Amino acid sequence: MNAYQDELRRVGRLMTEARRACVLTGAGVSAESGIPTFRGAGGFWKDEQEVRDLATLEGFLRDPKRVWEWYDMRRSQAKLVQPNPGHYALAEWEQQITTRGGEFALITQNIDGLHRAAGSQNVVELHGNIHLARCVNECSEELIPLPEPPLPEHPPKCPKCGGMLRPHVVWFGEPLNPRIIEQATQAAYSAELMLVVGTSAQVYPAAGLPYAARSHGAVIVEINLEPTELTSAAQFAFHGKSGEILPQLLELAKEEGG
Ligand code: OAD
Repeated sequence: MNAYQDELRRVGRLMTEARRACVLTGAGVSAESGIPTFRGAGGFWKDEQEVRDLATLEGFLRDPKRVWEWYDMRRSQAKLVQPNPGHYALAEWEQQITTRGGEFALITQNIDGLHRAAGSQNVVELHGNIHLARCVNECSEELIPLPEPPLPEHPPKCPKCGGMLRPHVVWFGEPLNPRIIEQATQAAYSAELMLVVGTSAQVYPAAGLPYAARSHGAVIVEINLEPTELTSAAQFAFHGKSGEILPQLLELAKEEGG
């Protein structure tokens, strides 16, 4: 067995033994489903003007129709994609842990809903969800599921106050929901094992979670196509596609478990 396979097997064993585990995912986990990542070649944003127009509150208030039409397009794209083997492996690992009475949280920066579609249960969505909307006036905290795209009116109206609904996503310059950050931080603090999958680990506060977990004793495992700023802080780092490495780890975990 070579060193790489030996490390995979060791992580497989840790996955079998962990009673409290969490995962942090980023755009890379959905790349093999056909959703572009943000940074790097073929990244999502064309230019900075587009970011200002489509992914800030100011842009939305300037032209809500344009922003909603763009989200219709993204939701139409999202409907065409399916979870990949990486998403399914994480859902299966959660099931194994919860079946043996352990705790599991999947913290994601993605808004595509693919982890839930694959069967993950305890999903903490740091940056929101493209399939939900909420009142721009914050008349309530209610999250409103959106009908199939295209919407009948742009912008859709809040059923409570009649104001505009906005997509339930975090835009540039906006803070994350403190309740969601608290949930994610607690999961990181209590984890014995944390997998960090497909994120460039550059955007905070998400990027701080592995360090929070490590400071409380968690073993950090990174899975990414390439090294990131987190790599040197991780006990294990596997470089390759998450849709291949995660199912491999899960298979090894099954072998190690019994
Ligand atoms: P990035 O686009 O910054 O990084 C994607 C990472 O995934 C890179 O490190 C790639 O090497 C890696 N990757 C790509 N394909 C992969 C594959 N098949 N298997 C494993 N790894 C792969 O995306 P995020 O880190 O998710 O925020 O970006 C974080 C946040 O920045 C996003 O949530 C978004 C953006 O601004 C908001 O919109 C609020």
